[in-house]
Formats: sequence, C-alpha cells, structure tokens
Amino acid sequence: MRRTLIAGNWKMNGSSAANAALLAEIKAGLKAGAGCDVLVCPPAPYLLQCADVLAGSAVAWGAQDVSAHVAGAYTGEMSAAMLADCACQYVIVGHSERRAYHLESDALVAQKALQALQAGLTPIVCVGETLQQRELGQTDNVVTAQLQAVLDMLDVAALDSIVVAYEPVWAIGTGKTATPQMAQDVHAVLRSLIAAKDADAAQRVQILYGGSMKPDNAKELLAMADIDGGLIGGAALKSADFLAIVAAA
Ligand code: PGA
Repeated sequence: MRRTLIAGNWKMNGSSAANAALLAEIKAGLKAGAGCDVLVCPPAPYLLQCADVLAGSAVAWGAQDVSAHVAGAYTGEMSAAMLADCACQYVIVGHSERRAYHLESDALVAQKALQALQAGLTPIVCVGETLQQRELGQTDNVVTAQLQAVLDMLDVAALDSIVVAYEPVWAIGTGKTATPQMAQDVHAVLRSLIAAKDADAAQRVQILYGGSMKPDNAKELLAMADIDGGLIGGAALKSADFLAIVAAA
C-alpha cells in the first residue's frame, strides 16, 4: 500500500513573516497527526526557517531545484549536499517552470535527480505535456521521454527513493484541472514505464498529480488507483486550503 504524499510547492512566494504564520497554521492544523506524508517546498532562503520551525513535526521540507553539479564555480546554484545540510528530505526536479523558463532538458533533469539521490534526498521528478502537445495526441510520448531520461540513469534500488509528479502544463496555475480519469490514464502510463524496469518497485513508487489541485477536487483525484498524492502550488499558500487537501488524502 502506497502512502499518500501532499507536497506544497510555494514557488517564488513568501517572506520570513508570512512563512512563520503559514507554518504555524499548518503545524497547528496537523497537531493530531496527518493521515499522509506532508511536505512544504519553500524558496531556498527559507529552508533553514522551515528546519527551525518544523523539526520534530509531521511536516517535512524540501527544495524546488538543485544543481546538476557537485560543488564549485556555479554561481547562483545550490548543491544537493547543501540541501541535505538544511535537513531537506526532498527536492523537486524538472518542474515545468524550470523546463520552460530555464530551458532545462530531460538530460539535465536526470542529472539533477541523480545528484539528489547521491546526497540522500528524494527527487520529485516532474513531467507533463503542454496544451498543444495534448491536442496533438503527444501526451504519452512526452511524459514517457521525460521520465525515461531519468529512469535510464537509475539502478533498480534507486526506484524506491524517487517520487514522480505528473503536472500537465496547461493545468498549472490556470484553475483548469485534468479530470481524474485523464490524470489516472497518464499515471498508469508512468507506472507501467517504471514497471518495465522493475515491476515490484513500480508498485511502491508514489506518483503525485499537480495542476490546480484544490480542496474541492482533491478527493476525487486522490481516489484514483494510481494517484498517490498531490503537488500543490497556489493552494499550498493558504493554510486552510492546504490543510483541507491533506484532510482529503
Ligand atoms: P498549481 O501549481 O497548484 O498552482 O496549479 C502546481 C505546481 O506547479 O506544482
């Protein structure tokens, strides 16, 4: 049985004061424990704030990106070891905003996933098609190529240390959500791709859905057989919404 993971991707939002309030509300809301794994991914300058506030709580913290390099002359980048040093457990790699605005290729995303694994972090590998790709019937091919690039770099043992997130680009921040069946169909494609590498491990890998997941649609999305959680953007910035999604899980 796979555990459900509800992960908040704060993107480039927040401040020390706003985060303090949001984290306090989330912690208070989960005082009695959560029925699922809960994660927040703040902007990197606030990872240590999360470590301070969340240590010993039911909420884990992670980063939104990581360098593909180990260390050295890479101005502006953060190594996986640094994120581990901030007690991160997870890091998002290959978010569509990184792919679109920073031209991250499948190969680069795979390198980042590998760096994360080598530092003991769980990479949350994001894949997803654009609206045009969906309309051209290319969805399965696109997400397959994106995930395969990562799978090709991993040995079978590492499959137990990754999370996959399906995020249709057209659903991110738009209020448009994939229907539960549309999402389930792609999740099934992704799981069968992992199964081609190792059938047992494929049954254990958590595959999250992301793209306008909200309190009012979370339950039906999370009810699908291959949807094991959510990567939440906008709704992760409001404690009531985020807690409602956690409660739906
Ligand atoms: P959204 O973002 O929930 O605001 O659509 C999801 C994401 O980009 O991870």
